Amino acid sequence: MADLDDLREGSRFGEEIAQSTDGFFMKGCNNMDWGMKDRMSRIFNPRTGRSVMLAFDHGFIMGPTSGVERIDLSIVPLIEHADCLMCARGILRSLVPPTSRKPVCLRSDAGSTILTELNNNVIIDVQDAVRLNASAMAVMVAVGDAATEALTIANLYNAVDAGQAFGIPVMGVTAVGKDMTRDARYFGLAARVCAENGSSIVKTYYTEGFEKVVACCPVPIVIAGGRKLPELEALELAYQAIQCGAAGVDMGRNVFQSEAPAAMIQAVGGVVHNDMKPAEAYEMYNDLRASSQSCFQPQPK
Ligand code: 5RP
Repeated sequence: MADLDDLREGSRFGEEIAQSTDGFFMKGCNNMDWGMKDRMSRIFNPRTGRSVMLAFDHGFIMGPTSGVERIDLSIVPLIEHADCLMCARGILRSLVPPTSRKPVCLRSDAGSTILTELNNNVIIDVQDAVRLNASAMAVMVAVGDAATEALTIANLYNAVDAGQAFGIPVMGVTAVGKDMTRDARYFGLAARVCAENGSSIVKTYYTEGFEKVVACCPVPIVIAGGRKLPELEALELAYQAIQCGAAGVDMGRNVFQSEAPAAMIQAVGGVVHNDMKPAEAYEMYNDLRASSQSCFQPQPK
């Protein structure tokens, strides 16, 4: 029986203070439902509005490529420095500790590999994303690729419909069509197509004129790192993207193929969250690298 004795009449109504009608901190997300906003706030830091996503989904199309042969050895030690993890469900279940308490952007399409023609994909059942407590679903969209454009755009809007039912945002990942020029016009078109079809986040590549890509995309953009660059160049890439208005990075190879991956992801974090200039972040990278080398490293048996 509920204790109904001594129920006191409310008196602290704060009538003189209007209830806040502030908007949500991520662009284009103000009309989302609470669950979506909660998930977006796990991925993007509400203090900065930005995110360092760690991408290690490469194996789902490439197999054990350099740096992701042993996720337990190369990626798991980096998790603490990432804001969000991007991977496929097999790796998540088998190797990512559920105690990591990091939001997951789940690779939610699957199909062909680099051995055939990429992007002949289907999407996973949204219920599996729910079971895995995904904070977002990532789906590849091959804008400009005659063979798979329609299929991958259908995958995107089907994933958006499924995600809407459970409050899970979808990240449209722009795969560059084979014959496409990697310029701001192409990436602007591809990003906009993703947003128009319901992506809550768009992942694309940095290019000259990126501020236009950001401006014409109504939802947050994160950039992929792309092929491995020298560390300073990768930090410059991240810096340029952030200064052009990107809401973060979803980087893989430039982190896990770095000479010092833990130092690199922290330096990227400095650029993303603290607007560190590339030279300053590179100094941070070198300092962290030097200090980690001076620590005792247990040798494998
Ligand atoms: C491929 C992806 C990758 O996760 C993405 O390319 C990020 O990795 P990298 O920084 O190595 O390019 O989404 O579809």
